[in-house]
Amino acid sequence: MSQPFKVVAVSGGLQRPSRTYALVQAVVDGIARKQAVEVELIELAETSQLIGGTLRRDALPASVQAQLDAVESADLLIVGTPTFRASYPGLFKHFFDLVDQNGLIDVPVLLTATGGSSRHALVLEQALRPLFSFFQSLTLPIGVFATDAEFRDYQVADAGLQARIDLAVERALPWLRHRTGTPPQLVQVRAA
Ligand SMILES: Cc1cc2nc3c(=O)[nH]c(=O)nc-3n(C[C@H](O)[C@H](O)[C@H](O)COP(=O)(O)O)c2cc1C
Repeated sequence: MSQPFKVVAVSGGLQRPSRTYALVQAVVDGIARKQAVEVELIELAETSQLIGGTLRRDALPASVQAQLDAVESADLLIVGTPTFRASYPGLFKHFFDLVDQNGLIDVPVLLTATGGSSRHALVLEQALRPLFSFFQSLTLPIGVFATDAEFRDYQVADAGLQARIDLAVERALPWLRHRTGTPPQLVQVRAA
């Protein structure tokens, strides 16, 4: 039987409860409703305290090394960050500083972010997209930015936000399924 698609999600929320976590979870749930997937959701509220100023991967706790391995083996990566000072928090960047620079080439990445103000919605385009362009990832055209007012009790509570999530999921699914296509170099040619 073929392996299920591997969806890895990273929530950069640094507190609990977290709207960023809720947003990332809602995107993951949307994908899982439409496609059989194996999911790993990484929460930086937990991990950030373990990575501190560490720059060497082999100096990290085994649990964090396993999370980095998971990120690098994703068929689809979903990332979410709270907006801090019009960008992602430094600890979010530090987590991705530890990811192999060749570990996300051609991986589809669905970008999401939360913020207090919709005036900072371009954090998706001006902060997240350039970061994953560095990794040569396939950043998906549609990301999701959500404002605090669209959550209630740290859950998605706005129909408009849910519709944006649904659209991003719908547009992401073909990229996920595309990952199972047989790469040309694996086609076997038999000698006559
Ligand atoms: C240090 C700090 C800086 C922030 N800077 C911004 C900002 O520049 N723009 C914005 O829209 N929201 C800003 N916010 C609000 C958060 O992005 C917002 O409340 C977000 O939903 C928090 O996500 P969380 O619930 O996952 O922690 C800031 C919050 C904090 C704590």
